Amino acid sequence: MEELVALCKRRGFIFQTNEIYGGLQGVFDYGPLGVELKNNLKQAWWSSMVYERDDVEGLDSSILTNPEVLKQSGHEDTFSDPLVDCRSCNARWRADHLETKKCPSCGSEDLTDPRPFNLMFKTSVGPVDDGSSFAYLRPETAQQIFTNFKNVIDSTSRSLPFGIAQIGKAFRNEVTPRNFIFRVREFEQMELEFFVEKGSDEKWHDFWVESRVDWWKAQGISENSLELLYVPKEELSHYSKATVDIMYKFPHGLEELEGIANRTDFDLGSHSKNQKDLKITAKVKENKSSNSKLAVQNRETNEWSVPFVIEPSAGVDRGVLAVLNESYKVENLEDGKERTVLSLKPHLSPIKAAVIPLKRNNKELVDLAYKVKNDLQKLRLGRVLVENSGNIGKSYRRHDEVGTPICITIDFQTLEDGTVTIRDRDTMDQERKGMNDLSGLLKTKLLA
Ligand code: GAP
Repeated sequence: MEELVALCKRRGFIFQTNEIYGGLQGVFDYGPLGVELKNNLKQAWWSSMVYERDDVEGLDSSILTNPEVLKQSGHEDTFSDPLVDCRSCNARWRADHLETKKCPSCGSEDLTDPRPFNLMFKTSVGPVDDGSSFAYLRPETAQQIFTNFKNVIDSTSRSLPFGIAQIGKAFRNEVTPRNFIFRVREFEQMELEFFVEKGSDEKWHDFWVESRVDWWKAQGISENSLELLYVPKEELSHYSKATVDIMYKFPHGLEELEGIANRTDFDLGSHSKNQKDLKITAKVKENKSSNSKLAVQNRETNEWSVPFVIEPSAGVDRGVLAVLNESYKVENLEDGKERTVLSLKPHLSPIKAAVIPLKRNNKELVDLAYKVKNDLQKLRLGRVLVENSGNIGKSYRRHDEVGTPICITIDFQTLEDGTVTIRDRDTMDQERKGMNDLSGLLKTKLLA
């Protein structure tokens, strides 16, 4: 983990937020390369969830959430972790994260009994900060999908089964944020709420577990690094009938990367008016404030029913950490030297190609390098840049370290015959190709 954290800072993937003021615990920023990698991962998810399916719509909803939503969803009552205080040094810990009955900070055994600590962040709304008007920062993106259920149905005429996908920030006041970007207080989720008829829910649950494992493999995560955890009944969230966690071997241990839950008709049922008429299966709190029935009508029988929902919910930041960890390698070379390489899947690489003029002060070579870069950039396959450091060997090493799949060198022969040297990140092989072949070559590489 330490090597990865150092690489992330050195090469501009991830920084501690507000570092110049000492930081803010559990909050991180994505730098020039990190934002590209993160966007590429989100784009891959969006493509597979929305564009490559015919039964999913997208959504981008607000972070600030009406407290009534999180009251009805059960988050106000149950979204908490067990907190203990150390009476000696006043440190606070998550009881279920303590390995012994001692305070990890001072070693004292004088700890309070665990008490529930609600993880939701509150903020005041409007010009008066007297606690009378507040909103929550959403603790999961899902609730805004549920509250938009009718809007999406009415505007798209969808019928079951269908899904609503969303990527966005979520906030949790974690008692002990830790392990770099693994457990943080501000993070992003990629969530699909897939609405199905009751009775077909278990079949769809199995489908999504398999499909999500395949997707992570397509992002370069090896099968050996993944495990499925069938969450025991007593550990299920209040809304879940069954949850399968996709666990990944993070540098600090095997932990959850994504959860796939069968949320039954709990959420739509909780947010519906006239609950008694809807034959809701889940145990829901009485709702006196919703003005909407979040249900579908059977075209033949005219009966209303609340759909069940299967929810694959993945953490973007945990995904970034997993693909970085999986692709990070230090290789011993034949000449006795080492090279660090990020063997990222090319569609995730922050930089798709680096164009390198052999001599940094030669105007002809540099101008041609920019022309090649601009032509490739027009393909809109992601970021292409000119690397004008003047040292080919160092440029190759730098781009190995940040996962650039190919480097294109412009030399004096290029000026004569229009050929360039293509250097492959993984094999380090070099071959000469015509400049006209570059767009086809880059496209092929990125689809690999
Ligand atoms: N809507 C369901 C839900 O939020 P969750 O298991 O609490 O379920 C889903 O969260 C995913 O969000 C997790 O699998 C994880 O990848 C990510 N996640 C949750 N809490 C996180 C945190 N504090 N820091 C980073 N990622 C987190």
